[in-house]
Amino acid sequence: MPIANQNLCTTQNTWLITGVAGFIGSNLLEALLKLDQRIVGLDNFATGHQYNLDEVQSLVAPEQWANFHFIQGDIRLLDDCRRAMQFPLETGQEIPVDYVLHQAALGSVPRSIENPINTNETNISGFLNMLMAARDANVKRFIYAASSSTYGDHPDLPKVEHKIGNPLSPYAVTKYVNELYADVFARTYNFKSIGLRYFNVFGKRQDPNGAYAAVIPKWISALIKNEPVYINGDGETSRDFCYIQNVVQMNIRAALSDNADAVNQIYNVAAGDRTSLNQLYQLLQSNLTEKYAHVQTAKPTYRDFRTGDVRHSLADIGKAKQLLSYDPKYRVAEGLKEAIAWYINAHETNQ
Ligand SMILES: NC(=O)c1ccc[n+]([C@@H]2O[C@H](COP(=O)([O-])OP(=O)(O)OC[C@H]3O[C@@H](n4cnc5c(N)ncnc54)[C@H](O)[C@@H]3O)[C@@H](O)[C@H]2O)c1
Repeated sequence: MPIANQNLCTTQNTWLITGVAGFIGSNLLEALLKLDQRIVGLDNFATGHQYNLDEVQSLVAPEQWANFHFIQGDIRLLDDCRRAMQFPLETGQEIPVDYVLHQAALGSVPRSIENPINTNETNISGFLNMLMAARDANVKRFIYAASSSTYGDHPDLPKVEHKIGNPLSPYAVTKYVNELYADVFARTYNFKSIGLRYFNVFGKRQDPNGAYAAVIPKWISALIKNEPVYINGDGETSRDFCYIQNVVQMNIRAALSDNADAVNQIYNVAAGDRTSLNQLYQLLQSNLTEKYAHVQTAKPTYRDFRTGDVRHSLADIGKAKQLLSYDPKYRVAEGLKEAIAWYINAHETNQ
């Protein structure tokens, strides 16, 4: 099994993770607590869950969990963002946040097409609040979740950071605006940030439920429960699926890198592998058949392409490797094995 993230943090720092009760946020929390870091977490439970935090608590030592301070709050409120910029000690003293890992947002292209105003309020106004609070708190660096959707209709493959097209959804607009604001804050306030364009992240605690669930957890859950699996289009749509441990590594490297040239930049975060939906279906099927015999003969149902989806997505990860020494330890198949084991366990536990 690949070794993830050891030795990335050698001293104790104070971090703020927004969206900490969500998929990526809770995995960042788990990794950083296991590295004995001090964390403030902010979340309003819009799409995140208390049970994600409970699971992290069960996976770390009690003295590591004591390094976590949770604030139930909303990034649409500037005061909540400001409150999250320090870790309160029992003595009444407060330790300022060194690094922000800003994950809170409303994800999903279809959600944004259905309700662009909600997505805009959280992803743009909320983002700006976070920038202001972080700037005023003098944090060392602000790392934020950008998105591969920013490539929009640009035809080139693989995607390189400086060549983007027109956004294809309100969600993509919001994520691009984040990059523009971060850039303007760098120019006007000497603010230090790094944007991470995530490509289809997957792994444990990614929510399989709801209308806006991502494809991997949704399909695993449907296959386990013997429910229909729908493929939008002909199944030859492809994605660069990236395992969560690679994303955790990039966040930590982005925050702690001492390469001055690496700051105020945007990076692709992906595995650099292209997988079609048909290939993904086969991978899931072969991994789940051993445990659930009915999966062997299950067939997907093909339906129309979905509005706003790009046809192919594949990242060039050369920039992250060069400037941040990004070293993705997990290929898609390895990540899927770990993720599937977690979903099977979660399913069996909840029976
Ligand atoms: N998962 C992916 O493949 C992917 C791809 C590209 C970008 N991203 C970005 O990564 C980030 C994390 O995504 P995720 O997959 O973990 O999603 P998620 O929905 O699991 O997590 C988002 C978290 O943000 C919280 N949140 C939402 N609105 C909030 C608000 N107003 N105030 C405070 N908290 C709020 C939610 O409750 C949730 O816990 C998001 O910014 C998303 O746009 C994710």
